[in-house]
Formats: sequence, structure tokens, C-alpha cells
Amino acid sequence: LASYHVIQWIDGSLEMLDQRVLPHQVVYLQFNTPVEVCGAIRDMVIRGAPAIGLSAAYGMALAAQHSLATDKSEFFRELIAAGKILSSARPTAANLTWAVERILRRLESSKQEPIDRLKVIALDEAKAIDYENEQMNRQMGLHALPLIPQGARIIHHCNTGPLATGAYGTALGVIISAHQHGKQVHVFVDETRPRLQGARLTSWELKQCGIPHSVVVDSASGYLMRTKGINLCLVGCDRIAANGDTANKIGTYNLALVANAHNVPFYVVGPTSTIDMSIPSGDDIPIEERPITEVTQIGDFQITPDDIQVENPAFDVTPARYITGIITDRGIAYPPYKASLSRLMGE
Ligand code: MRU
Repeated sequence: LASYHVIQWIDGSLEMLDQRVLPHQVVYLQFNTPVEVCGAIRDMVIRGAPAIGLSAAYGMALAAQHSLATDKSEFFRELIAAGKILSSARPTAANLTWAVERILRRLESSKQEPIDRLKVIALDEAKAIDYENEQMNRQMGLHALPLIPQGARIIHHCNTGPLATGAYGTALGVIISAHQHGKQVHVFVDETRPRLQGARLTSWELKQCGIPHSVVVDSASGYLMRTKGINLCLVGCDRIAANGDTANKIGTYNLALVANAHNVPFYVVGPTSTIDMSIPSGDDIPIEERPITEVTQIGDFQITPDDIQVENPAFDVTPARYITGIITDRGIAYPPYKASLSRLMGE
């Protein structure tokens, strides 16, 4: 699929593609400590919920591999501290704490093993998460196939492809899978202000896959639905609450409202690692506020007057009632989501 890798464990260090400088430069950076990986997540070297989870898993493996601890309680203290640092990088994506907790649980269940063996176990678990992530991406693409009509015209928000997941993608993975199965599609790519993940990253990925698309401004969706015969909207997700309320990139909620007003199906695509059954509704999802310079500047160029008030919420929550279906690796959940998600999650 891609001529680049997003995240790769190489000889005891973690290599990641620097997404801040795409599409103009392809630059790989190396990371050797959980603190460095935390910085990379915070600064958006790596982004997208599943890719953040993957980098956190390898961040934990770095903590284990480079630990100098000679007794086991010290080793565990170091790993718990690394987990806290990594989890603090960004608040909204469920996959981050999911991955950290999974590595810690695996180590805890092997605590009778010597430290050298625990180091191997942490890395093996990160690699298992990586492998399962790819399988989950494939499954979402296959489950969604019947929902994509031949000739589909699709609106997509943010970036949800290989860059955001380290594998095929969530919403974009569905589109890539449909394309690979012979469906002709045209994708309207929301540019996704303020960081322009759509214009910079999604368009770059679609171009490499040879998938026809047009970049549009985020506010074009109403016009497109009235005039361009849109068949469906596909978006990713950063955290899904037990009732189906879904946090995703800012602007997703607006898109869902416009889709509802035009009776256009609105699907959320995400792996089960993004579903957080401990959170009853979207009201409890933490929403990240990012630096205001993302809004006041384009690159280094300031577009607003000096000294004004700005808000920059990075995500919003789409209430479950506006979501037609949630496409996961274990199948498609339909309303009422409390029951369908519980079934999918085996709870
Ligand atoms: O701030 P970002 O770029 O990490 O936000 C990414 C998104 O909102 C994606 O839509 C989301 O992570 C889900 S799909 C992989």
C-alpha cells in the first residue's frame, strides 16, 4: 500500500515519520525514551488515535529495554512512571491509556519472571498490539464493504489513514479497502482546520493510492450534500463512550448535523481499542485544548490581530443519535448503542 512506514521498532529504538512536515518532506526521527515519545505525541510528530496508542506501547517497551533497574520493584516503579508520562501526552484518544495499561497488565501477570525476561515481554506485547492493530484495520475495511455503493461519493473528515493508525486506517482504511475491491469512489476531503490534517495528510495518502478526491473547506459540507449527491460520510474516532457518543476531530459534530439534515448516512469507523465502556456518555470525554497559535497562525504567518481571545478545542463530541452506525473490527454496531456496543465488547 504505502512506500513509507509510520512507526517502526529498529534495533532498540523507535523510528517515526514526522507528520508535521508532510507532505513536502519525508523525515524520520528516532526516539529512545518514554519522555521523548511523550514529546513526539504532544508535538504531533505522530497523531491519530490508534497510532498514538502504538507509539505509547513502544514507548513502554523503550522504558523496559533501557531500564537499569537491578531489582524488580524498581523496574515496576520505572514502568508505572513511564506509563504516567506517556498517558499525559494527550487526553482524548482512548487508545493511549488502553495501550499503556495493556503493557502494564501483561508485565504484572508475568511478575515472577526475571527482569531480562520482562524486558522481552514488554517488547513482545508492543509488537502484538502492532500486529493486532493491522488485523483490526483490515477487518473494519471488510465489514464496511456492503455499505459503500459503486460510484460512492463520500465526505471524510480529518486524517484516518495509515498515518493515523500505522496500518490501513479507520475511515480511510474503509475507503482504501473499497477501492481495492473494485469500487469506484470519489472522496471529498475536509481540509480540517486548524492543523489541516485533511489537506496535508489525507490528500497525500489518497494520491498515493490513486483514489480520486477533492479537497474542500470544512464548511462546504452543506453545499456538497445539496448539490453533489453525497452517499455517505465516513469519520474516525478518538474515544467512543458506552452510549455511542463519539469524540473526533473538531468539526465532526457539525458534519454529523448537516448529514442528518440531508438524510445522508453518517458512519463512525474505529477499532474496539477506541471504545471506552468505562465512560457512560460523551459528557465525560476529556477534550484537549491546543495552543492558540494553531488558530492565529498559518505556519509562521499570523492571520489575526494581536491580543485577541481565541479558543482551540481539538475535538468535539457527536451525540450517538446522529450516528447511523459504528464500524468496528468486530462488526457494525447500530442504535441503540448501549446494547450493541456491550454485545461487541462482550460485556
Ligand atoms: O489531533 P489528531 O490529528 O490526532 O486527530 C486525529 C483524529 O481526530 C482522527 O480522526 C482520529 O484519531 C481517528 S482515526 C484514526
